[in-house]
Amino acid sequence: MKYVYDAIIVGAGGAGLYAALEASAGAKTAVLSKLHPLRSHTGAAQGGIGAALGNLEEDKPEWHAFDTIKGGDYLADQNAVKILVEGAVEAVYHLENMGLPFSRTADGKIDQRRFGGHTRNFGEAPVMRACYAADRTGHMILQTLYQQCIKNGVHFFDEYIVMEVLIENGKCNGLVVLELATGELHTFQAKAVLFATGGFGRMYKTTSNAYANTGDGPALLARAGVPLMDMEFFQFHPTGIYGMGILITEAVRGEGGILLNRNGERFMEEYAPTLVDLAPRDMVSRAILTEIRKGNGIRGDKKIDDFVYLDASRIGREAIGKKIPDIAGFCATYLGIDIAEKPIPVQPTAHYAMGGIPTDTQGRVLRDASGAVYEGLYAAGECACVSVHGANRLGTNSLVDLIVFGKRSGREMAGFVKDAGFGPMPVSAEDGAREKLGRLADGKKGRPAWELGESMRETMMEKVGVNRTEEGMREALSILRTLREEFGEVRIAEKQGEFNTELSGVLELENLLDLACLTAASAERRTESRGAHMREDFPERNDGEWLYHSLIWLDGGKYRMDRKSVDISIFKPKPRTY
Ligand code: FUM
Repeated sequence: MKYVYDAIIVGAGGAGLYAALEASAGAKTAVLSKLHPLRSHTGAAQGGIGAALGNLEEDKPEWHAFDTIKGGDYLADQNAVKILVEGAVEAVYHLENMGLPFSRTADGKIDQRRFGGHTRNFGEAPVMRACYAADRTGHMILQTLYQQCIKNGVHFFDEYIVMEVLIENGKCNGLVVLELATGELHTFQAKAVLFATGGFGRMYKTTSNAYANTGDGPALLARAGVPLMDMEFFQFHPTGIYGMGILITEAVRGEGGILLNRNGERFMEEYAPTLVDLAPRDMVSRAILTEIRKGNGIRGDKKIDDFVYLDASRIGREAIGKKIPDIAGFCATYLGIDIAEKPIPVQPTAHYAMGGIPTDTQGRVLRDASGAVYEGLYAAGECACVSVHGANRLGTNSLVDLIVFGKRSGREMAGFVKDAGFGPMPVSAEDGAREKLGRLADGKKGRPAWELGESMRETMMEKVGVNRTEEGMREALSILRTLREEFGEVRIAEKQGEFNTELSGVLELENLLDLACLTAASAERRTESRGAHMREDFPERNDGEWLYHSLIWLDGGKYRMDRKSVDISIFKPKPRTY
């Protein structure tokens, strides 16, 4: 089939849905998603959305901006951050007006709580800034936006997987898409396409990310010649359930939970005397691993897979039931523990990609370091890099990012399509995708995809994780490149067209392999430590040489790199202490 729309959004999480809502006000709009929209990973954002409403104590967008920039180790673009924090306040009230059931204070205002790295008066003490709906904030955002999109007449194509993006002479003209239910290929012609496909934590062995988080947007665009930015910065959330990686929201610490080592010591007092357990995630994750290395993990065996305790019992049973009920449920289901009585075993879990598809503040995808943009091509949410998170994102700011920049991108698309025409669709648009499907099904026997995936996840975890060294990353890159080559020999056994999940899994693996290679290559190159990128061989931040965004292109079998300047026009970089 051939479909024609003014605006197409790929991905139905918070960014995609908000973009669709805005675009559909002035354009015939479709959303393509490989999942049902309400299963998107935005639903996993538990603890809150940051906005300086000041409902419980004084707060200001300027303080939020400072925290975001300092939290990101001064790699965020500061005017973009200003847009983020000012837009946050408006966005939260807009969500409330659309019906989002926020938790409330006794006098009926939106309730707010503490979260890591969010402070009052430029770092003095933690501030209550995270607006929340118990620990289901992301779910509530999805429900609210999906309902509004349906009301606005957005067309949804659920369980459609994009195989190719059609870009010619710097203009995006459409997509080639696989319908999972039938196995058929379709073309979608559009004046404007936005990618909002979320993160790619599935390249790591231990991750809080859903199985669907395979970086389809960034990988497809990288293969189409688009650069990716700041790929070396991948955040580990400090509190994943031990051995599983499932997220235990930072709101547990925001509500009073504390981290303890095997001696019962509140070890964060040593690493972050002011914010303690509410320091930014990069610092807390490193502190946990340092404790484990010292033999202070709960098992005390100094092995990387050791853990620490998160004690939520001090929050009290009643507040647990009201404020973090899902967390209590997860721990009962997966660990068989009652968190009002027993501590939760936790370890850092791969959580969030700060890097991704470079965009300007209107969501337009950048072609290079000069700021030139593609025509009709947009990105928003975790798959994009505006950059508002710099080298380390603060908790709650991902929801802010996808709401503020999803909205701005959708609005920009609606304006763009008014005057733009459709670009040409090649007669043979589907040929490339058809050839790939034919090769994957041709009956030869290559190495099983699951083996390649396992090796990639282990390699990334061990060598491109929280702590990094040149030797480790070189080894990682060499292993990952070999895996990428071996992927050429992968074949699928399942031949049926309908719901061929072996095929979709293999397509996703290809995306992850490309992104793992680009992450390792970018990380090896950056010879400093900044935010989530911690080099044991270069332990200091080096603004003289590295206060730059990195750009990387997939160029045949090679990686081409460049630098892009950082906007530091508001707060001058300072050493980061908490
Ligand atoms: O800890 C959390 O609730 C996660 C939120 C986030 O990643 O922003």
